[in-house]
Amino acid sequence: MAQQQRETWTTRVGFILAAVGSAVGLGNVWQFPFQTGANGGAAFIVVYLLAVFLIGFPAMLAEFVIGRRAERNPIDAFARLGHRNWKVVGALGTLSAFWILSFYSVVGGWVIRYVIGSVRGTYFGGSEAYFGAISAGPEAVAFHAVFMALTVGVVAFGVTDGIERSTKLMVPSIVVLLGGLAVWAGTLEGGAAGYAYYLSPDLDALLSNLGSILPAAVGQAFFTLSLGMGAMITYASYLGRDDSLPADGATIVILNTLVGLLAGLVVFPILFSLGVEPGSGGLGAAFITLAGAFAQLPAGRLLGVAFFVVLLLAALSSAISLLEVVTSYLVDNTDRSRRSLAVALGLAIFLLGVPSAFGLSILGWYNAIAYNLLLPLSVLCLLLFVGWVDAGDGVDELRRGTGLSESGAAAWLWFVRTVVPLGVLVTLLLGLQSLAVRADLLAEAIV
Ligand code: PHE
Repeated sequence: MAQQQRETWTTRVGFILAAVGSAVGLGNVWQFPFQTGANGGAAFIVVYLLAVFLIGFPAMLAEFVIGRRAERNPIDAFARLGHRNWKVVGALGTLSAFWILSFYSVVGGWVIRYVIGSVRGTYFGGSEAYFGAISAGPEAVAFHAVFMALTVGVVAFGVTDGIERSTKLMVPSIVVLLGGLAVWAGTLEGGAAGYAYYLSPDLDALLSNLGSILPAAVGQAFFTLSLGMGAMITYASYLGRDDSLPADGATIVILNTLVGLLAGLVVFPILFSLGVEPGSGGLGAAFITLAGAFAQLPAGRLLGVAFFVVLLLAALSSAISLLEVVTSYLVDNTDRSRRSLAVALGLAIFLLGVPSAFGLSILGWYNAIAYNLLLPLSVLCLLLFVGWVDAGDGVDELRRGTGLSESGAAAWLWFVRTVVPLGVLVTLLLGLQSLAVRADLLAEAIV
């Protein structure tokens, strides 16, 4: 067991920005606008916002409570809180982080390619062919390796010198660049139709499609808030201070939501100004349609660079939190240096991701397993732990450093015991069903 002093964030802002960096990622800038498009526009956003605030926010506080109280990685945290058997839940989260980073990094590799492609204008000749050429095959593997190396590079430097320092630069850069792009997108002719689509919900459509919108919205809420992968437990374990968890959590959730909405204000006017329906196509559609849009717009290279740099910073600041989850377990449990552990883990995760760099359908499977199974299952177990097993202590921890009344904390606990796990359970069941449908389709395709 390593006995050196455990690192802590140097400032409160440092923690908040690191957590925002984890939350703001491909999920916000890439997936969110396109999930919105695929699920009927503004109606999806209504459900998504409810899911973020009613399910995601209380669940995030549950992770914070575990992390700050235990001051350990997600696996040992449960043992430290006196419930050794629950270590398996921490292990599930840690495994999910390992799994998700493996293909997240492949997409991160694409983004690096698009930054370079924007500088050179390579995809301007045909965005679909470009995507086909870079998204799968040996080159995709090579850039997956580059992205993973960058991630390892940050994590190897540690919590304050690596993660805190880099996210303090990355997160504000994301906001400034994205804000600039949104203002520019507002000047596009025909773009206003994008706002209407995005901002005025069709409630009839919402009600008739709730069965598919709900799991998509809840899954997206977990993914974007970095829940269920031990990331928020790990980051909170480095707090070492008594600031208000609800206040910090609310700041993180609100900032993350604003960045997602801001990304929509960039993406939708661009698509509508060119007459493209958002949300059609699969995982690659976002890259193809947006890159295609940049190719047609004046100053497209510059815009493309700005957009894909945002995407890269967002992806990187999330990937480091995933690697940190796994690294923290080994740092806490071995005597090896953080640097060598980060390198070894980066290599292992890279290898796990290689198959998904050889075909979009494989990547789709990796993603579906994470979204539909690992995340909801892991969040559900965490909620049961905080809500039922560790209940009283969690409430005390939540109140530490706040003016939160007993009844306020009790309301949170009630939520974490009832409404939130029920919502997650429904999501999990619907998600399993969609995995089964996927498997059937695959079986049919094979037969
Ligand atoms: N929240 C990140 C995103 O939206 C993804 C992520 C999930 C990062 C879990 C860390 C942990 O892209």
